[in-house]
Amino acid sequence: MDKRLSVPHECRDFVHSLRMRSKYALFLAFVVVVFVFIEKENKIISRVSDKLKQIPQALEDVNGTDPALVLAENASLLSLSELDSAFSQLQSRLRNLSRQLGVEAEREEEVVPPRPAASPPRRHVLLMATTRTGSSFVGEFFNQQGNIFYLFEPLWHVERSVAFEPHGASAAGSALVYRSVLQQLFLCDLYALEPFISPLPEHHLTPFMFRRGSSRSLCEDPVCTPFVKKVFEKYHCKDRRCGPLNVTLAAEACHRKEHMALKAVRIRQLEFLQPLAEDPRLDLRVIQLVRDPRAVLASRMVAFAGKYETWKRWLSEGQDQLQEEEVQRLRNNCESIRLSAELGLRQPAWLRGRYMLVRYEDVARWPLQKAREMYRFAGIPLTPQVEDWIQKNTQAARDGSGIYSTQKNSSEQFEKWRFSIPFKLAQVVQAACGRAMHLFGYRLAQDAASLTNRSLSLLEERGTFWVT
Ligand SMILES: *[C@@H]1O[C@H](CO)[C@@H](O)[C@H](O)[C@H]1NC(C)=O
Ligand SMILES: *[C@@H]1O[C@H](CO)[C@@H](O)[C@H](O)[C@H]1NC(C)=O
Ligand SMILES: *[C@@H]1O[C@H](CO)[C@@H](O)[C@H](O)[C@H]1NC(C)=O
Ligand SMILES: *[C@@H]1O[C@H](CO)[C@@H](O)[C@H](O)[C@H]1NC(C)=O
Ligand SMILES: *[C@@H]1O[C@H](CO)[C@@H](O)[C@H](O)[C@H]1NC(C)=O
Ligand SMILES: *[C@@H]1O[C@H](CO)[C@@H](O)[C@H](O)[C@H]1NC(C)=O
Repeated sequence: MDKRLSVPHECRDFVHSLRMRSKYALFLAFVVVVFVFIEKENKIISRVSDKLKQIPQALEDVNGTDPALVLAENASLLSLSELDSAFSQLQSRLRNLSRQLGVEAEREEEVVPPRPAASPPRRHVLLMATTRTGSSFVGEFFNQQGNIFYLFEPLWHVERSVAFEPHGASAAGSALVYRSVLQQLFLCDLYALEPFISPLPEHHLTPFMFRRGSSRSLCEDPVCTPFVKKVFEKYHCKDRRCGPLNVTLAAEACHRKEHMALKAVRIRQLEFLQPLAEDPRLDLRVIQLVRDPRAVLASRMVAFAGKYETWKRWLSEGQDQLQEEEVQRLRNNCESIRLSAELGLRQPAWLRGRYMLVRYEDVARWPLQKAREMYRFAGIPLTPQVEDWIQKNTQAARDGSGIYSTQKNSSEQFEKWRFSIPFKLAQVVQAACGRAMHLFGYRLAQDAASLTNRSLSLLEERGTFWVT
């Protein structure tokens, strides 16, 4: 039996066997099967279900872009690693069950074209971030390299299908599914995403691949098939019209490219990626991108306005108390980022040479230098293509005014938030996220005047955060 078979496959078997064609089918199948086994004698599984109950409920983002997993500080790490072994048993049982039912995965033969003998080792880069940290911008550094197959936020589809379960199980459950799908995608098994795409693709064809236009690889020949009139494509390519995405063609392109990179804002715990880091087929590189939480909050309040009504009311109506649950949510977010970073910087054996921490503020000030560092870390050559893109998109000075003007220019950009939030808001973030801010070198503003005083830097200069 193929060890790579994983949750979504099992789920897919059920989807197929039940002939249910909706995104709920997948999740129902998952839940139903879990509970069938809980009903049966398996003690491990019932222990898992107890653990699941302890994990606080996932928060859903209105736009589906916020982290699905907001977990208590360390309860989560504990539960998830315990869940791991139980879950692989469950997988094995699911596999047996689907075999008994006579449903084998309905899969295309994977075409793996031979790679030239002299080609460099294939690398798999995960850009791990949270929303509003500049991850789309940094993702472009990899998207622009012609030899990298880049996917923009593919787990969006998974979140849409899995994260709406009313109780806590969804948090841990979706984390497991995320990881499993991630692994398949890195291996160019793009079919793994299909059960999560809504409506379900037919004949491996879909016009609903989230933000297809943000992946060059999905918009160039031959993945860009001739445009088909009357097919509504929700997320179309930017500069050209293509037919619906043929997942087989995309998977073939993925195999052809030398490297693979993807961006994800839904992976909350670095620890949870251990099986991927240990998978010799992947030679994984994780780049964790962080940003000053005060700036992140300022940006989220604009982008996800609906979710921050409570905060706005608190600011405008001058009530003394912000709801504790809002503060707690913020604290949890910051803490999960900090815990991941601390783990990464501690360099456990399984992660050695595979983890890099990057601050958005440094990328904003020195985009080219940071891009070089990231590529060196990933072991992928930086091409002129990427350098050009960065030059064009950061207004890096080539006109003789020198680097200084660039820096000044960028710093104006990245510090804008200081003038857009009231000190009161900064204070709340500082109190909730102090430990993360300390780790990443974000200085606290002592009063309203220093928040808006440009001569006072709120950024400690740090060297690179990574060691190989
Ligand atoms: C969390 O970790 C701290 C120390 O790291 C420990 O004292 C505390 O008991 C832990 N909490 C839980 C719920 O495991
Ligand atoms: C699955 O089936 C195989 C034989 O087909 C058996 O050896 C294995 O124990 C089964 N696994 C579980 C978890 O039942
Ligand atoms: C998708 O591409 C594959 C590979 O070229 C091809 O065999 C298949 O017919 C295409 N599917 C559709 C529905 O056009
Ligand atoms: C989020 O959704 C709201 C309304 O549904 C919309 O106005 C807003 O632009 C969306 N934000 C993003 C970043 O998509
Ligand atoms: C950056 O500098 C250029 C040239 O001095 C100027 O045209 C541009 O408006 C500046 N951008 C920002 C965001 O300040
Ligand atoms: C800003 O900070 C500098 C350095 O501490 C100080 O000299 C200056 O007076 C401050 N400016 C204002 C407007 O407070």
